[in-house]
Amino acid sequence: MSDTGTNDLTPTVFVLYGATGDLARRMVLPAFFQLAQHGLLPDEWRLIGSGRGERTDEEFVEHVRGALEEFGPAPEDGPWDEFRTRLRFAGGGFTTDDPGRLLDVVGKARAEVGEDAQLVHYLSLPPKAFTGYTEALGAHGLAEGSRVVYEKPFGDSPDGFRELDGVVHSVFDEEQVFRIDHFLGKEGTQDLHVLRFANGLFEHIWSREHVAQVQIDVPEDLDVADRADFYDATGATLDMLVTHLFQVAAEVAMEPPVSFSADDILSARESVLKNFRPLAPEDVVLGQFDGYRELDGVPDDSRTDTFVAARLFIDSGRWRGVPFLLRTGKRMAAKQQRVSLVLHRPKGPVNEVPANGNVISLSLAGAGAVDIDVMAKRPGPDLAMAPARVSLDLSKIPGGEPLPPYVSLIHDVLVGDRSLFTTSEGLAQTWRALQPVLDNRPEVQSYAPRSWGPAAANELAGEHGWLLGQTV
Ligand code: BG6
Repeated sequence: MSDTGTNDLTPTVFVLYGATGDLARRMVLPAFFQLAQHGLLPDEWRLIGSGRGERTDEEFVEHVRGALEEFGPAPEDGPWDEFRTRLRFAGGGFTTDDPGRLLDVVGKARAEVGEDAQLVHYLSLPPKAFTGYTEALGAHGLAEGSRVVYEKPFGDSPDGFRELDGVVHSVFDEEQVFRIDHFLGKEGTQDLHVLRFANGLFEHIWSREHVAQVQIDVPEDLDVADRADFYDATGATLDMLVTHLFQVAAEVAMEPPVSFSADDILSARESVLKNFRPLAPEDVVLGQFDGYRELDGVPDDSRTDTFVAARLFIDSGRWRGVPFLLRTGKRMAAKQQRVSLVLHRPKGPVNEVPANGNVISLSLAGAGAVDIDVMAKRPGPDLAMAPARVSLDLSKIPGGEPLPPYVSLIHDVLVGDRSLFTTSEGLAQTWRALQPVLDNRPEVQSYAPRSWGPAAANELAGEHGWLLGQTV
């Protein structure tokens, strides 16, 4: 780690909309400070917080300090004295009719860091605000030559997506747009394509000939008490399935990119989304944990799904017929983030090889990990078999400095690398694949807190069962 280092990044004015909101406080401001700690910001930069209320620059600096004290890294663990001098605040909101103080503050920041500074707009806002802010950026001449970052979910329905997409493309070219799905920025997710394409061991078995089933399993143990309003209007299917889990499925299923360039990786991952077969409602189980309706902010008769499990098929030559089992939920028995490929049993002379004898499993949490389950000889006089596990913890790789996903993705925005972002065409495909479930929504079934979800979800998993939660 170094202080704000020297590098050849373009001087940048970064405008954070919703700067005093929850997401900015938890994720974006801490990530920005970590970029400074790692020397990954340009030599010249300013961060302008935009918000509705009025605050002085000094008050905003104190707000940022508070965010770092609460969510880390602590100011004293990084170049805080220098960092704080780059923060500005532009209050008075920002609409098409009234830009508040933003134009003045951007003008001054540009005068300080250079008129040819790169302008980056980060919309850390609720999705319903995206349209208005996008139009305002166009109306006030802030779109040209800039980059814009949208949080997920980008649209809350197929129609909502199309509408928003139309507005965004009336103001920005697709190359200017960075839609965040932070699961793509996780170290473990990025390791999926390195592991696969840099190792014959994995590349040769990465297809229906060898893989019986893929599981993408993200159980969470927390509830949603601190953001019940948002959650109740969203639910697990929109919050996690059509976004994070679909994107990770595409990352597993993509064809080899032409090269490892950002454009080629992006296009390989996004093109496989068109092979996602629309989900059959009978292949989806929705659940709600007992006690959810008692949370503050949740209506007594809420039918919101806090759990979703789905069996997805990907109709490409490589994956036809292989179920991709996707599962996530709140208040479940454990917190994990696992991508597992269950291999077919070997066609050989050894009898009684267990069905889940060979599993390649990646953890997406933290720095990431790879575990391979094998059958081995139990040492001793007999030719007895025993299950065993080979594990690689990516944080142990010498010289590695794992970056949290938001840090990695904001850095990609600064350098203009779109490989880990979603595209308009790709998202249109994810909504197409989800449409039947929205048109014909399965009944929401209850489940006990600290369980693995409704019993019906077990049937989806078939012969292999869900790997997480099995007692071995
Ligand atoms: C967010 C969802 O995008 O991802 C949350 O809105 C979820 O509901 C979170 O808990 C999980 O991601 P991570 O990386 O924070 O574990």
